[in-house]
Amino acid sequence: MGARLTYPEITLAEDRTYIVTGGNGGIGYETAKYIAAHGGRVIIACRSEERADGPDTLNVEFMKLDLESLTSTMEFINAYKAKGYPLHVLICNAGIAFISYTETADGFEKTFQVNYLSHLLLILHLIPLLRTSGPNSRIVMVSSLAHVFGSFNLDNIQGEQSYDRFTFYGHSKLYQIMSMYALDRRLKNTGIGIFAVHPGTVETGLATNNWTESKILVPITHNFLKLFLYVFQSPAIWETLL
Ligand SMILES: NC(=O)c1ccc[n+]([C@@H]2O[C@H](COP(=O)([O-])OP(=O)(O)OC[C@H]3O[C@@H](n4cnc5c(N)ncnc54)[C@H](OP(=O)(O)O)[C@@H]3O)[C@@H](O)[C@H]2O)c1
Repeated sequence: MGARLTYPEITLAEDRTYIVTGGNGGIGYETAKYIAAHGGRVIIACRSEERADGPDTLNVEFMKLDLESLTSTMEFINAYKAKGYPLHVLICNAGIAFISYTETADGFEKTFQVNYLSHLLLILHLIPLLRTSGPNSRIVMVSSLAHVFGSFNLDNIQGEQSYDRFTFYGHSKLYQIMSMYALDRRLKNTGIGIFAVHPGTVETGLATNNWTESKILVPITHNFLKLFLYVFQSPAIWETLL
């Protein structure tokens, strides 16, 4: 892969403030760590303070947020506003996948609420703060290539007719992208940019937390992909094969 860093080395102002939902594990943890290591202030918004522990030397703070609950999401929003911090970047990263059908206390299908609805609530209430903290404020939705398996069917949005754990993960990731486009139109000339990203395939707890068979399938897929990339990037192997 070479000896160069694969990310830019930059210095962030210490009051440039980022919220990373689900910043206590997986992709969110790495995101939060690198932003803080470059000097920015990171608010890790997640359920467990214990799991959000990081080095005291970095400018990182825990704030409780449970996206499974609209009440908890509103409490987080009000607590954040009460702190008086600016907000430059909101990273909607937390997510769940491949769960069996579950309804939240608010009456929504759980993947829908955690991945999409509660993040939308966060965004809508924090837009005024992003606007006054700018220029160059951003909202980043950590979506997924899995959105290609999703569709938008209002008659089955909460699994009223049928439910499939893979399709409903895809739906939730598609809704993130749809809301990104809808908000982008409304955020023109506000100085706020909105983006949706696919982070690649990363071996985290996302699949294995809730889908038993994935404990076998995920390592096989990852090792196959690693082997494929190794062969693909190795000219010596190509010369032998061709
Ligand atoms: N891994 C991949 O290959 C991949 C590919 C495409 C897209 N993505 C997307 O990347 C994002 C991060 O996934 P990951 O792979 O890093 O998964 P992960 O390791 O399972 O991390 C998920 C994070 O979301 C948090 N979370 C889950 N439910 C929550 C809730 N109710 N309230 C607040 N936080 C909650 C978790 O915190 P707790 O400790 O509280 O559970 C954890 O910090 C997701 O949006 C996922 O869809 C991942």
